[in-house]
Amino acid sequence: NAPRAIASALLHWYDRNARDLPWRARPGANAPDPYRVWLSEVMLQQTQVASVIPYFDKFTTRWPSVAALAAAEDADLMAAWAGLGYYARARNLLACAREVARRGGFPDSESGLRELPGVGGYTAAAIAAIAFGRRAVVVDANVERVVARLFAVEEALPGARARIYARTDSITPDLRSGDFAQAMMDLGSGTCTARSPRCLLCPLREDCAGFAGGAPERFPVKAAK
Ligand code: ADE
Repeated sequence: NAPRAIASALLHWYDRNARDLPWRARPGANAPDPYRVWLSEVMLQQTQVASVIPYFDKFTTRWPSVAALAAAEDADLMAAWAGLGYYARARNLLACAREVARRGGFPDSESGLRELPGVGGYTAAAIAAIAFGRRAVVVDANVERVVARLFAVEEALPGARARIYARTDSITPDLRSGDFAQAMMDLGSGTCTARSPRCLLCPLREDCAGFAGGAPERFPVKAAK
């Protein structure tokens, strides 16, 4: 199927099935606050959605804006972060908040975002797409699995990443690329799951080469140890 048909089937599914997560804009609302998108993406870098939610709520209640967070004491922020792990993220979080406060706001492009402490390629793409409506190619582990299956990518990880990125690029729409990215994440987390994908519930089943081949769970192929 044409790339546009894949994106539109996925967005249609997302409009009905999106998870209601606190960092997402409410249905019908404008784009979500870049501060909330950035904070959620940093927290989600190495931590599951369910574990992040209470921390996200605690942080946004205590520090409702990037300026508020920039003014936090290091020790208070580190204490609030305790339990999330990977403490370099917390130190970068504060450095980034101070940098953004100094600039007067978040950069609105992927390349500008990448200059910020703790913001790598994935996070910059996610913020650009979700908060600023930029077209960006967003590939996390869930998206990687969905795309590897959709195109039956036979090459093994990690070498397959370049191909998976290119395939994701080929189906990313110009409009709603943030919703598209989050739809891929939701599909990967609830439907196109690692061990037993629920293909009968999948909006992309008819486009999926992995499903057509009869063993979608084979993908993404891992390098032999
Ligand atoms: N994982 C990383 N970013 C996410 C998002 N915006 N929604 C759901 N899961 C995610």
